[in-house]
Amino acid sequence: MDRGLLFVVSMVMGCLAPGVSGNGHLSFANNTEVHITRTGCGLIKLCVETPEQCDPTGETGCLFASIVTTAPSSPNGVDLLVELVGDSSGYIALGLTANETEGTSMVFICAQNRNGSFFFRSAQRNNLNNTISLTQRIVKNITGSVNGTVIQCKFRVPAVNAPTRTSHVTTFATFLAVGNVTNGMGIGDINIRLTNKPLNLADPTSNVATAGSSALTSQAVIVLLSVLMYRLS
Ligand SMILES: *[C@@H]1O[C@H](CO)[C@@H](O)[C@H](O)[C@H]1NC(C)=O
Ligand SMILES: *[C@@H]1O[C@H](CO)[C@@H](O)[C@H](O)[C@H]1NC(C)=O
Ligand SMILES: *[C@@H]1O[C@H](CO)[C@@H](O)[C@H](O)[C@H]1NC(C)=O
Ligand SMILES: *[C@@H]1O[C@H](CO)[C@@H](O)[C@H](O)[C@H]1NC(C)=O
Ligand SMILES: *[C@@H]1O[C@H](CO)[C@@H](O)[C@H](O)[C@H]1NC(C)=O
Ligand SMILES: *[C@@H]1O[C@H](CO)[C@@H](O)[C@H](O)[C@H]1NC(C)=O
Ligand SMILES: *[C@@H]1O[C@H](CO)[C@@H](O)[C@H](O)[C@H]1NC(C)=O
Repeated sequence: MDRGLLFVVSMVMGCLAPGVSGNGHLSFANNTEVHITRTGCGLIKLCVETPEQCDPTGETGCLFASIVTTAPSSPNGVDLLVELVGDSSGYIALGLTANETEGTSMVFICAQNRNGSFFFRSAQRNNLNNTISLTQRIVKNITGSVNGTVIQCKFRVPAVNAPTRTSHVTTFATFLAVGNVTNGMGIGDINIRLTNKPLNLADPTSNVATAGSSALTSQAVIVLLSVLMYRLS
């Protein structure tokens, strides 16, 4: 197996437009080379990653997602434009939920099979017992690529509405996860690597002040100090 190469995924399902859309359950996308960076994080896109502030363009073990929301339209909610990168010989996943410890999560999975070919699946996690089941949620504009253990993908999740009880239609707790692919294209147990408290996904800065990273914290401290100094002067 030539895992170091980008593999071209041929379209297997006739009902799918190549590289564009698909049934959320299982989609193949043309292995369009995807190139995801931190550019725009905290400014035009909300970014979550582990380890903190890791570089998705090269750092081994950087599990990274960015989210941009379209303008809300009632009753359809918003579309989410998602980028996801990580290191896995199986799958990487982004989860969205109202509360990580109750109810269910929407899970978006970018994966490679044993041949190193990219595929996409959508699933639901039962937050109480951490089991996942595949779902038919429609996800569009899926592109993905695989290089060794690095999986990168972009996709659009149409018509997302946060469950009630959250302050905005776009407020979700997010998590990043990895797992194994089993039996060809089956999804093995989900291993959550990072959970974020509920964030307004429509606000790219919503996790900037609380990210706790040294860089961001020192920025916040500088802002705070300059406010204090201004007040004292
Ligand atoms: C997807 O790949 C197929 C076969 O390689 C090709 O015919 C088609 O034009 C590609 N579509 C896109 C959108 O790149
Ligand atoms: C999540 O659910 C747990 C248990 O039901 C509850 O204690 C907690 O307050 C909830 N958190 C949020 C942010 O709603
Ligand atoms: C993966 O490899 C197997 C065996 O080499 C082959 O039968 C199968 O069609 C390949 N799958 C894809 C998606 O390329
Ligand atoms: C997890 O919880 C769901 C819903 O309560 C249940 O259907 C499923 O069987 C449970 N799975 C396991 C492995 O406990
Ligand atoms: C999604 O795909 C459609 C159909 O090909 C295209 O018109 C649209 O521009 C794409 N949107 C994004 C965000 O890539
Ligand atoms: C795959 O990754 C290797 C480094 O691990 C890099 O040298 C190579 O250029 C990458 N290939 C592509 C097509 O991006
Ligand atoms: C994947 O499977 C291997 C071998 O069964 C196991 O050691 C590893 O923990 C699994 N990884 C994940 C992320 O579940």
